[in-house]
Amino acid sequence: AACAELRAILTHMRRGVAFTGAGISTECGIPDFRSPGGLWARNRPIDFETFLARRDMRDEAWRRRLALDAAFAGAEPGRGHRVLQRLVAERRLAGIVTQNIDGLHQAAGVPDQHLLELHGNTTYAHCLECAARYEIDWVRRRFEANDARAPDCPACQGPIKTATISFGQPMPAAAMAQARELTRACDTFLAIGSSLVVWPAAGFPVEAKRHGATLVIINREPTPLDAVADLVIHADIGEVLEAALEP
Ligand code: OAD
Ligand code: ZN
Repeated sequence: AACAELRAILTHMRRGVAFTGAGISTECGIPDFRSPGGLWARNRPIDFETFLARRDMRDEAWRRRLALDAAFAGAEPGRGHRVLQRLVAERRLAGIVTQNIDGLHQAAGVPDQHLLELHGNTTYAHCLECAARYEIDWVRRRFEANDARAPDCPACQGPIKTATISFGQPMPAAAMAQARELTRACDTFLAIGSSLVVWPAAGFPVEAKRHGATLVIINREPTPLDAVADLVIHADIGEVLEAALEP
């Protein structure tokens, strides 16, 4: 029944927004944050201030990131990414707002102008001082050659970090503003694979609802926003989205 309802909503959608979290990428071999075995179940996050202040924590941040590189570098888009790409191509989705940093929406073929990354991207790194870009492979070679120490920027000696947003780091203003605009104008807001507990990102579904959108939540676990949603589906994302679009 829920699936039929989702199918009807997607059929009528004209300027939807998909809001994605780590749950859309777990089938691609990338762990989420808050599930058992998720990243924050293994390690406490390193906040931005600590990353800047402590060299040993920069080393630790890079140790963790490089340990995940097989997962990130080898990942292919999953069923959820492919369905959303198709909905963008058909102009039923106006855009995808993502908290994910894995680059898999791009890999599925979603054009940059339809994709807003709120938490940045971990498929490359940059210098926090001069913004020079560095590839992860380059960082790994330096890290390994230098006894597990994080490299500094060869150009300016600044700290090098993946292009992601850490706790305590300012959100990307342009992406936030565009995401807000899309959210206020959308007819349907699909929150997919997010625990919806991290702010300000989790404010988007509320904002959509306040502006009259139909709110759909697809997530294995309950979320704090289930009570305000029009349709809640607690099931596997790839399965649900594929089934909803089957002819
Ligand atoms: P979470 O790990 O908090 O939530 C992912 C949700 O996806 C969980 O509720 C899972 O139950 C669900 N899930 C996982 N696999 C699924 C599947 N195949 N089908 C259906 N549901 C599935 O991840 P996010 O909500 O994305 O930010 O986390 C938000 C932010 O917190 C992240 O962007 C990151 C993190 O700290 C920063 O680091 C700033
Ligand atoms: Zn630099």
